Amino acid sequence: MPVTIILGAQWGDEGKGRAVDWLSGQADIAARATGGDNAGHTLNVGEQLLKLHLVPSGILHPTVTCVMGNGMVINPLSLVKELDKLAVFGLDISPSRLMLSSRAHITTQAHVAQDAAQEKARGDDKIGTTLRGIGPTYLDKVGRRGIRVAEMVDLEMFAEKLEAHLTRASASLVRDGFDGVDIKTSVAAYVEAAAKLRPYITDTTAYLNQQLKAGAKVVCEGAQGAMLDVDFGSYPFVTSSSPTVGGTLTGLGFGPKYVERVVGVAKAYSTRVGGGPMPTELLDELGDRLRGTGANFWDEYGTTTGRPRRCGWLDMVVLRYSCAVNGFTELVVTKLDILSGFEEIKICVAYDIDGQRFEFLPPRIEDVARATPVYETLPGWAEDITAIRKMSDLPVNARLYIERISELADTPINVVSVGPERDQLVFA
Ligand code: GDP
Ligand code: IMO
Ligand code: MG
Repeated sequence: MPVTIILGAQWGDEGKGRAVDWLSGQADIAARATGGDNAGHTLNVGEQLLKLHLVPSGILHPTVTCVMGNGMVINPLSLVKELDKLAVFGLDISPSRLMLSSRAHITTQAHVAQDAAQEKARGDDKIGTTLRGIGPTYLDKVGRRGIRVAEMVDLEMFAEKLEAHLTRASASLVRDGFDGVDIKTSVAAYVEAAAKLRPYITDTTAYLNQQLKAGAKVVCEGAQGAMLDVDFGSYPFVTSSSPTVGGTLTGLGFGPKYVERVVGVAKAYSTRVGGGPMPTELLDELGDRLRGTGANFWDEYGTTTGRPRRCGWLDMVVLRYSCAVNGFTELVVTKLDILSGFEEIKICVAYDIDGQRFEFLPPRIEDVARATPVYETLPGWAEDITAIRKMSDLPVNARLYIERISELADTPINVVSVGPERDQLVFA
């Protein structure tokens, strides 16, 4: 069974990009199923530091074909910019190894403006979106008025459809007291981008099924994380797609019979960007210490927006839930090196909500917002672990920490990362 699905197990930014880069080494195809340029996946190979938003992280492997699936939302301007950047890096980005699903939806400049307008209108209750127009694009998709990538094939018709959409959306923005969109300029820019992207447009579902039948190995790269899933996350503080296992199959278009592994990527502690409850958030100097000063590229500041990430102890209520929702066959735990030097490390094993103990995430956001974490305290380790490559060489307390996570999640952990570099992985 040739498919490995890699998904974020928390609130995004778990280090999925580096996990995909690692697993793509054994794959023929790397495919992304959901989200858009709200994602920011960092790859660090030697001197190269690459931040990807739309293109799958498998692109660094010359023999891997990359697919942007039907479940994605694509801003053509962002994609062109990203391709230009990849070309500067000297990577082969020809259409023979990079495909864009004709069924994916297009994010327009009206969607971006609507995102900002909606956030402004929410005031103190704002979601803290990445302002990339993701929500409005998915809204138009399920509202059956979206524009799909396939429309970019016929530039004249594309311009017409785009103009009609922008005219409608812009008028509505102006009615609500927001700035409208410069329609002419926007259409011209999108048509120019469409002309560049046309060669990449493919029926990726047909392609993937053909390849799978022929025995190709496929790695699916998740974006965001389970707690940002529109069904399973902390609604309404979520994104507008399904970055869990079901969304991967819908977002690419093949059946579960091909899936062998579902790998959850979990950070050794918790981070979150944007609003919404986070029971283990540390608002003290411990949180600052997890976040870092921003001097290192791996410090906890958003890859896409540069916002400081909220930091806290590992939340096993979240991770246990995420394992259940996704059926993870294994977990990869990242950024263990960041915990070196902490005297003690806490794991939230349950929530206390009005005196009642919850080990599984309760559905009501109001309950999560009131939850007090029930912590278990483990001893820390002082050693620098960034050069360690074998689980048995880790300091005993680091090993105990990983073993305890695995036990509480009831899921095996065979790989741990101890630094951002490609080879900074610890194997069992
Ligand atoms: P993604 O969105 O899940 O791909 O993750 P991001 O790229 O947004 O954020 C993860 C950050 O942590 C990036 O800057 C990575 O380079 C960095 N990173 C990944 N794994 C490790 C690790 O084991 N140790 C350290 N120090 N940094 C890591
Ligand atoms: P990767 O793939 C972290 C968050 C936003 C906001 C919420 C909704 O790098 O892990 P949206 O713009 O999607 O409507 O914002 O989701 N968010 C992410 N947080 N990592 C991401 O992607 C995210 N993509 C969206 O911060 O809280
Ligand atoms: Mg990220």
